Amino acid sequence: MSYKKPSHPNDLFPREIEIEICLKTLKIYQKIEGDVNCVVWDASLVLAKYLEIMCQYKSDFLSGLRVLELGAGLGVVGLTAATLGAQVTITDLPEALPLIRLNINENKSKIGSMGGYATAESLIWGDQYSEIFNEEYDLIVLADCIYYEEAIEQLLITLQLLSRSLKKKPVIYLTQEIRDSEIQKRLWNLFYEKLSESFSIEKIPEEEQHSNYRSEDIVLLRLEKK
Ligand SMILES: C[S@@+](CC[C@H](N)C(=O)[O-])C[C@H]1O[C@@H](n2cnc3c(N)ncnc32)[C@H](O)[C@@H]1O
Repeated sequence: MSYKKPSHPNDLFPREIEIEICLKTLKIYQKIEGDVNCVVWDASLVLAKYLEIMCQYKSDFLSGLRVLELGAGLGVVGLTAATLGAQVTITDLPEALPLIRLNINENKSKIGSMGGYATAESLIWGDQYSEIFNEEYDLIVLADCIYYEEAIEQLLITLQLLSRSLKKKPVIYLTQEIRDSEIQKRLWNLFYEKLSESFSIEKIPEEEQHSNYRSEDIVLLRLEKK
């Protein structure tokens, strides 16, 4: 009698995310129980769908762009960008990488179909010596990463380091769900105030976002180093 090992552990379950403009459906594995990096957060869907909208206006918007995702969780934004033709490095804490890699693998054929590529690397915010900084990126994306105070300074350091190129500064798209607690609002205001000291900030109006994937609780910003 033979025993076939299941291809995915049974504490995982898939979520399907449609990329409408290229008629592809990403299969993203989430954990039934786990840390914040084991589920798809709404802010990542808002950002992924905004990238789709940008590709609707300009079909080669992401083609060949070097994209870096920070605090990626399961990598929804990065995987969407890769499926739309970008060369993507998806980053998070080391413990998040196995699930990101599983999701890259699961969606490999879709990612490659428009010339895109995705890889996963560890990047801990504030680590100034990461090899990630040896590369240059055209676009940085991050969703729902401002949720605990110790990380704010570290995340700002990372954004500064990624924007230090003299040749071409990357554009940064950031989404954040503004949750209804005083602590979360205070954290967001603190982050925003510090961010505005060195980045120019453009708030993308809701009407320019995907009609089904936008929310008054989720802010979408376009940033560039001043
Ligand atoms: C709320 S989750 C958002 C995940 C994903 N972007 C999404 O929206 O679905 C925050 C993410 O930030 C990552 N993170 C938290 N602190 C970090 C740090 N110091 N360095 C790198 N990543 C970090 C977590 O592992 C987690 O994946």
